Amino acid sequence: MEALERESHPAAKLYEPGHVCQAIRLHDLGKIAIPDAILRKPGPLSSEETKIMQTHCVAGARTLRNIQIDNQLDSDPVLSLAIDVALYHHERWRGQGYPHGVKGNAIPVIGRIATLIDVYDSLCSARVYKLPFSHEQALETMSEMAPTTFDPELYEIFTGISHSIQASHNKFARLFK
Ligand SMILES: [Fe+2]
Repeated sequence: MEALERESHPAAKLYEPGHVCQAIRLHDLGKIAIPDAILRKPGPLSSEETKIMQTHCVAGARTLRNIQIDNQLDSDPVLSLAIDVALYHHERWRGQGYPHGVKGNAIPVIGRIATLIDVYDSLCSARVYKLPFSHEQALETMSEMAPTTFDPELYEIFTGISHSIQASHNKFARLFK
């Protein structure tokens, strides 16, 4: 994450790096509204469970927006970014994502960055239904997903700095063990 922020790509200059870091940490806030039976289910979700799981994007964005309104924090840059991160981190470049199926440049840049980070983190982390992928396995999977899933320019940056991303991921994985 830190490495992605240091890139001199025009998209990276849209945001203050520290704000991006803080906002992306809140991407799955809406999962507090999802029942544990779904969150911790060790197998594939049913279609009904999948629909419930997918509500975490809107739930997170709504919660953050309410915090913003209730505390008169409309000008708070982290909250504004975090609302977009929560809402857009499961949208996909070609439009097959959720909750709204928006695509391409209609997805805010911060949402497209969050997608890359979230996919890498999900692949490299243990889940109740899978073991963590190695860095190399994650990159291979992401290269297969790339044409439909990621902003091509941001994906190219990501692959160019993937070792720094790996180092950051390992550092945080150790911290939260
Ligand atoms: Fe999510």
